[in-house]
Amino acid sequence: MTTIIEQLEQRREEARIGGGQKRIDNQHAKGKLTARERLEVLLDPDSFEEYGMFVEHRCIEFGMDKQKMPGDGVVTGWGTINGRLVYVFAKDFTVFGGSLSEEHANKINKIQDMALKNRAPIIGLYDSGGARIQEGVAALGGYAEVFQRNAIASGVIPQISVIMGPCAGGDVYSPALTDFIFMVKDTSYMFVTGPDVVKTVTNEEVSAEELGGASIHAVKSSIADGAFENDIETLLQIRRLMNFLPSNNTSGVPTISTFDDVTRIEKSLDTLIPDNANKPYDMKELVEKIVDEGDFFEIAPTFARNIITAFGRVDGRTVGIVANQPMVLAGVLDSDASRKAARFVRFCDCFDIPIITLVDVPGFLPGTAQEHGGLIKHGAKLLYAYSEATAPKITVITRKAYGGAYDVMASKHLRGDVNYAWPTAEIAVMGAKGAVEIIFRKDIGDEAKIAEHTKNYEDRFCSPFVAAERGYIDEVIKPQSTRRRIARALDMLKNKQLENPWKKHDNMPL
Ligand code: HXC
Repeated sequence: MTTIIEQLEQRREEARIGGGQKRIDNQHAKGKLTARERLEVLLDPDSFEEYGMFVEHRCIEFGMDKQKMPGDGVVTGWGTINGRLVYVFAKDFTVFGGSLSEEHANKINKIQDMALKNRAPIIGLYDSGGARIQEGVAALGGYAEVFQRNAIASGVIPQISVIMGPCAGGDVYSPALTDFIFMVKDTSYMFVTGPDVVKTVTNEEVSAEELGGASIHAVKSSIADGAFENDIETLLQIRRLMNFLPSNNTSGVPTISTFDDVTRIEKSLDTLIPDNANKPYDMKELVEKIVDEGDFFEIAPTFARNIITAFGRVDGRTVGIVANQPMVLAGVLDSDASRKAARFVRFCDCFDIPIITLVDVPGFLPGTAQEHGGLIKHGAKLLYAYSEATAPKITVITRKAYGGAYDVMASKHLRGDVNYAWPTAEIAVMGAKGAVEIIFRKDIGDEAKIAEHTKNYEDRFCSPFVAAERGYIDEVIKPQSTRRRIARALDMLKNKQLENPWKKHDNMPL
């Protein structure tokens, strides 16, 4: 018996060493952890249970029958994050560059199936050269099996992808089907085809970082929802994110007890809005003062910074926050901001996370660049996302809510449950200057008349009261009591029941 157990331990040891010490040293030399080291950081201590440690590939082409490594390039199993169940797979770059074989795909599929069946989130750590070239179509088929499961699980359980090394082909398409992608700065890359193929096909010379580093995907392409300094920081941030996320679409949001008083009054908010309507202020200050302990997790903080999307908590329960940011492009809605917010709203709604919308928006961004870039359809994405959402929706207009953007930003007309405005709110078709120049065109040049018209327009329309008179705003609130008002509204809405009519699925503008 002892010998059999010793043999088991020995086999486990062999499997744990993956592609061997030399390749592990190479991985460390690049500043990267190994797959198992990463899981140790991601999961609670001693919670990881590994499945499929002894799986080997079955390829016999190109001498592969003589190169077998237990585990076959991916470490799979489950564990806990702050006591909550998560399923995990981590690509092992030391084994055939983490590339995906048929058996490697089967291991991931097994974990995907378990995660869906048991309704718990799945996190993939990616560090992989894509399809195992020696396996050909068997690897391609394996990827499609992964993709199919990604699509079926979407909206049922959270799926998170973390890019921690070079990733190509199928190892970027599967992440793209998941809810959130995070990258490690300087050591991770994502591309459909790498720099060598780009050179061959287009004759373009480009480095891996310029083609698909975190500096591109977290800032320009919007493929990544965030980028962090190194493996450890990235994994710790994923642990933080998971504390905000529900386990599945029927579990409800997690609750983390807080010492932060929900009736907390924030006097400083009464002076947050500058006297001059064209002066910016930092909307993050409001976010910080609403949520428990000022703690929030931003999604896509470096892309379309004119809109903020973040998870926070109020009274210990997760909320999603969408907020125009007057500090960047005056908080205007452009194509990028609309897409970013639309995807976030849809995520929240899938998992019934209440959505708090903080509005200070001068409208949609005019101009050929935006129009030719599809602003109509991108803006419609956000309009659609808010319209279809049945999760609790609470809106606070702090200052501008102009034009179509007033409608879009979770207005009462899009089934906003509770719509508040600060006394500084300006709810109108457009700003006073633009409005007067159109309706009093004949008086242009007569400065006194224009000034009078502007004053009249401002007095009548640049306030929350026209909207409040019509019931589009439920209450004009003091800025200092925003947290208390939101907390009370959330509590009041906690048993909200609203269903859209049955449909196979919708046809949202894509
Ligand atoms: C088999 C692979 C591999 C692959 C890497 N390796 N990629 N083995 N299939 N796809 C092996 C290498 O042979 C090497 O083995 C080890 O992994 C490390 O690779 P290196 O090239 O030495 O590392 P590095 O210089 O860091 O470069 C990493 C890399 C590069 C950028 C990922 O290996 C690369 O470009 N690989 C190919 C990427 C690719 O085009 N994949 C196919 C995508 S198509 P040893 O034994 O030396 O350690 C695809 C189809 C699905 O995925 C599409 C679905 C839509």
